[in-house]
Amino acid sequence: MPIQSLYVHVPFCAQKCAYCAFFSEASSGELINRYTDALVREMELVADDLKPRTIFFGGGTPSILNLAQWEKILRAMERLNLLGAEEFTVECNPATVSLDKAKLFRAYGINRVSMGVQSLDEALLDRLGRIHSREMVFKSFDILRRAGFDNLNIDLMFAIPGQTMDIWRATLKEVITLGSEHLSSYEVIYEEDTPLYQQLQAKEFDVDEDLACEMYEALVEHATADGFHQYEIANFARSKPETRNSKPEIPASACKHNVNYWRGGSFYGLGPSATGYVRGVRTTNWSNTQLYCEQLEKGKRAIESREELQPLARAGETAAFGLRMVAGWPFEDFKRTTGHDLRKDWAQEMKQLTERGWGRIAPEGFQLTRQGLRFADSAAEMFLR
Ligand SMILES: C[S@@+](CC[C@H](N)C(=O)[O-])C[C@H]1O[C@@H](n2cnc3c(N)ncnc32)[C@H](O)[C@@H]1O
Ligand code: SF4
Repeated sequence: MPIQSLYVHVPFCAQKCAYCAFFSEASSGELINRYTDALVREMELVADDLKPRTIFFGGGTPSILNLAQWEKILRAMERLNLLGAEEFTVECNPATVSLDKAKLFRAYGINRVSMGVQSLDEALLDRLGRIHSREMVFKSFDILRRAGFDNLNIDLMFAIPGQTMDIWRATLKEVITLGSEHLSSYEVIYEEDTPLYQQLQAKEFDVDEDLACEMYEALVEHATADGFHQYEIANFARSKPETRNSKPEIPASACKHNVNYWRGGSFYGLGPSATGYVRGVRTTNWSNTQLYCEQLEKGKRAIESREELQPLARAGETAAFGLRMVAGWPFEDFKRTTGHDLRKDWAQEMKQLTERGWGRIAPEGFQLTRQGLRFADSAAEMFLR
């Protein structure tokens, strides 16, 4: 059966944000054109094994590509029978949204936009090196609605140096009032080799763990009070989850592409630095746009590394990913996906987590509690083999 999920990495940004370690660079027009052609070539190489139900263009800043470049990519996808996905998301920076681009997106079946907002406080946006103002967020949101998008996500960040609880609450309130169908909110990670990390090393500010915890609590509290349903540590969907056997399912407006990823599903990853996971084999493309283009110009995939995990190790990773979701792992779903039984191979870990108050075992599955979700990374690590 062909693979049903496609991730495309667009490695360009207008300028690098102070905290960001994703592979992207300030763009030059010529290199973007060359990348566009290389990406089409890469799509041609995998198209026969791909019938996407979900597509996600991330980055970097996919919306930085101009109309002609987008048209080239989308036409190629049409020719290769890659359009028609149930969910087709493009990540956008509020400074690079236009009505023409939004209309072009709609015309080719892009039905979800994820907008990187991070904060609505001008001083913090500046501090983070964002290229957009708060006004641009409202304007772009409006443009996307006018173009007909009815499935929008907003990305926020909290525990930003200089962000007080009042500023955070104000941003949350304004963002929730905007009425997006989805909200993702991440605590700042100090990634090595970023300006923010260097400032931390130079002791220009302190990290306040307690405040970060309170901000996470405020996020969950405000979002759920205003009609969002949390379905993953950092992700909230507006639609109410259906209930099956008295347990909530994943909400309909959850990001289907990421749910497939957390549930250990296969996906192709195209573009520089992209990771793919196809039938148990993980591949990672070169994190070098020139090299990526050179390889594809020679007609070869631009894969830097390939890794095939042993079945038990693979199942352990899949368990760890799936526990990020509030619904946790239904035992039967896990068995179907991995061929392993959580009740057999991870009985000890589930017992320990339950005793610590971080986990909950039910006859049909295992999930982390609200407290456990706060420490999901440590909990998930216990499942790795
Ligand atoms: C790959 S970025 C792409 C979004 C888009 N380029 C933008 O920034 O407008 C996806 C999201 O990851 C989050 N993110 C990136 N770096 C982060 C970091 N160091 N700590 C926490 N969140 C981060 C941001 O919320 C960002 O919107
Ligand atoms: S956060 Fe988004 S816009 Fe900023 S550098 Fe990273 S990918 Fe680019």
